[in-house]
Amino acid sequence: MRTRTLGSTGPAVSMLGLGAMGMSGAYGEADRAESIATVHAALEAGVTLIDTGDFYGAGHNELLLAEALRGRARDSYALSVKFGMLLRPGGGFGGNDARPEAVKNFLTHSLTRLGTDHVDIYRPARLDPAVPIEETVGAIKELVEAGYVRHIGLSEVDAATIRRAHAVHPISDLQIEYSVISRAVEADVLPTLRELGIGLTAYGVLGRGLISGHWTAGRTAGPGDSRGFGPRFASGNVEHNLALVAELRRVAEAKGCTVAQLVIAWVAAQGEDVLPLVGARTRERLAEALPAAELHLTADDLAAIEKAVPPGAARGDRYPAAFMANLGVGN
Ligand SMILES: NC(=O)c1ccc[n+]([C@@H]2O[C@H](COP(=O)([O-])OP(=O)(O)OC[C@H]3O[C@@H](n4cnc5c(N)ncnc54)[C@H](OP(=O)(O)O)[C@@H]3O)[C@@H](O)[C@H]2O)c1
Repeated sequence: MRTRTLGSTGPAVSMLGLGAMGMSGAYGEADRAESIATVHAALEAGVTLIDTGDFYGAGHNELLLAEALRGRARDSYALSVKFGMLLRPGGGFGGNDARPEAVKNFLTHSLTRLGTDHVDIYRPARLDPAVPIEETVGAIKELVEAGYVRHIGLSEVDAATIRRAHAVHPISDLQIEYSVISRAVEADVLPTLRELGIGLTAYGVLGRGLISGHWTAGRTAGPGDSRGFGPRFASGNVEHNLALVAELRRVAEAKGCTVAQLVIAWVAAQGEDVLPLVGARTRERLAEALPAAELHLTADDLAAIEKAVPPGAARGDRYPAAFMANLGVGN
């Protein structure tokens, strides 16, 4: 697989990354053996960027990855790890903690669970409103100097925060939702990243499955599946959004690819500095996603996609209201 470099200071990694969140319950129950087989299949296909968070399944995801990656040369893959989201027993989130002392504590737990001596990219999952970003990045900078972290990333912050963080230490990449139905980054964030030489790692490229071509109006999210709370999946919105997918399917069929491949390739086509993550949790989904790395979209293809799904066409926020408040950009 071809590679892309995350910003002017980040690592060169495969042009598609594997997001492991769905392997630890975010979308309902996941099969452990299948999850591990999916990680192995991704590595064998040349995927070298794996994204996780210490709060995915309250540590489950890091332990799963440690098992999946055991025995592999540590420099053959890069681990991107998010921290800071606070969990509550019984489920739910309790805010963020990105104080310097918390950063070091979180990393200690992550290194232990992952069974490694360093993380390739370490990033706060969200801005902690009580802690200036300079203090959080300053703490990670100390971890870089000590050799425990290779690069510093950000997640879901606005352009002003990116500038402040980058002034403390070079930022490799911003992880943020970016897809044909979530284009808010294009206004201020993406130009700022480009000005500063910071990469963009896109998540939600498949709209969490909504624009994958596999979601149907009658499908209900099972127990524990966060899509059950997703405004874009809610009755009244999902029908509208799936009508957009029907338009995308027409474009995909004309191109000879699947809808999932089309929307992944659309994100990849936004620039060499944009790297799509795909949240496959089964080998079957992964096998569908990977050929998108080879799918070249022409100017006519991009125009047809734009016509099928103009900016702002999706109905519903990308997160429930309580979570929208802590994002750097809107929809
Ligand atoms: N920084 C942040 O705030 C943030 C937030 C969310 C996620 N992330 C990261 O980004 C990664 C990807 O995001 P995501 O999982 O939310 O969104 P996604 O990649 O848009 O959606 C993944 C889901 O789409 C469905 N799907 C259908 N066809 C697929 C295909 N061919 N390939 C892959 N998936 C397909 C799968 O659900 P079914 O298995 O049910 O079909 C899968 O779980 C996460 O794993 C996580 O590492 C970061």
